[in-house]
Amino acid sequence: MPKLKLRSPAKVNLYLKVAGKRPDGYHELESIFQTIGLSDQLEISESRRGISITTDDAGLSTGKDNLVYRATELFKREYHIRQGVRISLTKRIPVGGGLGGGSSNAASTLTGLNRLWKLGLSRSELALQAAKIGSDVPFFIYGGTALVKGRGEIIFPLAIKQDFHYLLIFPGFPVPTKNIYRNLKLLPAKPDNNINTIIQYLTAGDIKQISRLMHNDLEPVALRLYPELMKTWQTVKRIADPGVMVSGSGSTIFKLCSSSREALRLAKELRRNLSAGKPESRCDIFTSRYIPDK
Ligand code: C5P
Repeated sequence: MPKLKLRSPAKVNLYLKVAGKRPDGYHELESIFQTIGLSDQLEISESRRGISITTDDAGLSTGKDNLVYRATELFKREYHIRQGVRISLTKRIPVGGGLGGGSSNAASTLTGLNRLWKLGLSRSELALQAAKIGSDVPFFIYGGTALVKGRGEIIFPLAIKQDFHYLLIFPGFPVPTKNIYRNLKLLPAKPDNNINTIIQYLTAGDIKQISRLMHNDLEPVALRLYPELMKTWQTVKRIADPGVMVSGSGSTIFKLCSSSREALRLAKELRRNLSAGKPESRCDIFTSRYIPDK
């Protein structure tokens, strides 16, 4: 029986601008996504019938509200697959952490099933299917670094060669994305060219300038709604700014570091300061890198 093993990476948003609300209720985005070394793992194998999901995360549903289940169900229906499948999911990416874990798991499932069932779908065909599962899923079909527009379904992959060093601070609790968008008050924004400028600096690997231009419209909403997050954010800002930001809708805060040495030094200092306030918070180091196994 063939068994497929896939890595399912997390992402951070170096830039996230909400351009407006769409007639379908979603928001129009202009964002830069980047996958990082933190990843979950999926093992996919054939079975006679049905969909069976298992996971080491006791808090995660393995039924229809799991995105891995939904991705499998979608392909079974769309391509009239009668065979069953068993998927085991090892979680490392915090759920509700703004790191796209669930979306990444769904994208890996589609990529894996495309191979297992020899569907022959191209990357853009996979991304079209991925958009039916969730806004962030198409990005993870590509991985790496990308400019993302629309609801999340318009992907422009960026050829970034340099590895970036990140510190990730998970405050120990989740933030539901829906809640953040629901509380977002859209203000008329002055048009600027910052996203194109930050892309140029990403290509050049200029950490100082990237840190200066990093932006997230969802950050003030998350900080206002979650005072505990605000406290952690203030501590991280005080110790590690510039280049400190909430990823996506939160709850993870990240710091873009200028070197692995800086990442190590700050991780030590942050762990000391954060564990005093909140024992369940975590602070780890990761690098960005292109994921070649997709
Ligand atoms: O698409 P997905 O189900 O992952 O999105 C979760 C929630 O985030 C949506 O229900 C919506 O409230 C919000 N969202 C949005 N605009 C986007 C992406 C997500 O309003 N572009």
